Amino acid sequence: MRSGCPGAVLVTGATGFIGRVVARRLLAVGRPVVVLARGRADTSARSRVAEALGLAPDGGRLQAMEADLTHPGLGLGKGDWRLLRNRVETVIHCAGETVFFPGAMEPFVAGHVGGPQALLRGLAGGRLRRWAHLSTAYVCGKRSGTVLEREGDVGQSFRNPYERVKMLSEEAIRLEGAAVGVDVRILRPSIVVGAVPETAGGHPSQCLFAFIRLAAALARMPGGAEVPLRIAAAPRAAFNLVPVEYVAAAAVALAGHPDGAGGTFHLVVSDPPTQQEVLAMITARLGLRGLTLVDARRAPLTDPSPLERAVARLLAGYREYLEGDVRFQDTNARRILDRCGVPGPSVSRDAVHRLIRLALGTSPALPGLRLAGQGGPRPVRALPEKR
Ligand SMILES: NC(=O)c1ccc[n+]([C@@H]2O[C@H](COP(=O)([O-])OP(=O)(O)OC[C@H]3O[C@@H](n4cnc5c(N)ncnc54)[C@H](OP(=O)(O)O)[C@@H]3O)[C@@H](O)[C@H]2O)c1
Repeated sequence: MRSGCPGAVLVTGATGFIGRVVARRLLAVGRPVVVLARGRADTSARSRVAEALGLAPDGGRLQAMEADLTHPGLGLGKGDWRLLRNRVETVIHCAGETVFFPGAMEPFVAGHVGGPQALLRGLAGGRLRRWAHLSTAYVCGKRSGTVLEREGDVGQSFRNPYERVKMLSEEAIRLEGAAVGVDVRILRPSIVVGAVPETAGGHPSQCLFAFIRLAAALARMPGGAEVPLRIAAAPRAAFNLVPVEYVAAAAVALAGHPDGAGGTFHLVVSDPPTQQEVLAMITARLGLRGLTLVDARRAPLTDPSPLERAVARLLAGYREYLEGDVRFQDTNARRILDRCGVPGPSVSRDAVHRLIRLALGTSPALPGLRLAGQGGPRPVRALPEKR
């Protein structure tokens, strides 16, 4: 039996980087939201959700249930399942362990594949109509050139188990949806940046912020306006950053739009700047010269300085991504989002300045960077706005 209430949107991963922005956005437009979240030894799921969303679950507008995608039945009781089947019309699935190389494969695969399948199956037969599935644009693996939204496994090789499991997850959830008559939509963001919590999904953004803080510290050292520093990358390749606010707005719009049925959507900046252009915007803003991107695909850096080695270590986790050269077409996403009034984002000078402000305003100490003979960087403070 269904309740007479409007259908709720179930958000998984609401304690994470993207899920919390998605949930806040839904609440801001008055949608009833149910979130599934894990508890910790010392903190209940409910408290963790309240902290992430800045709003305590009240069981009405916002309801939180404790669940773990790797547990049998997700750890939910019969009454929970009944309630979820009666309330949930749409799922926006943002949960998943976002590390490239997991410690153990079994829970990793369960969390990305078996868990979401079990959730979809458990909700089917109730009110559920649509499932929006956060994947990644990097299911394209090591491909280069232009990747289309309709393309999935075309025989590409993957950089890490994360890319592979995200591809498996897309395929499995599509099969599950087809089997039980639920409309599955796949959403693939590129590299998401914004105001990040300390979660694994926030690492790419935190890494960019750490680089910005380093550049700011170099610019502030005595005589530091010109610092010779070569960085291995692909200078002319697209830098596929996308703001978290766009990813959340697009996810909410695409999860519900009738024209989105069964679609796959790249959530990206349609016309991304090159890595070289982004670096130029950062260094111009900070008043720093001497940084160059070296095309590491042609020749490795010779005789790196201690600073160059330190920067290589800082960026090591993303080296393969920096050396890739791929563009994501987002025609399907933009066709619908234009109609929904969700403007396409750009990585403009202003957008980069905003990232710089975020990076410098949320500045923990730089890990492991000490420059011999220079006494270390002076403290970094947010810069006044410069035009
Ligand atoms: N961040 C990016 O740049 C990026 C780019 C492209 C795609 N994506 C995709 O977007 C989605 C969200 O990423 P994110 O950046 O928000 O990641 P995140 O910050 O690491 O958050 C992951 C979320 O998933 C939850 N989770 C993990 N394992 C779980 C389990 N077994 N059961 C229940 N919940 C579990 C986490 O809960 P806890 O708080 O309990 O750990 C957290 O809420 C992921 O599917 C990711 O692959 C992210």
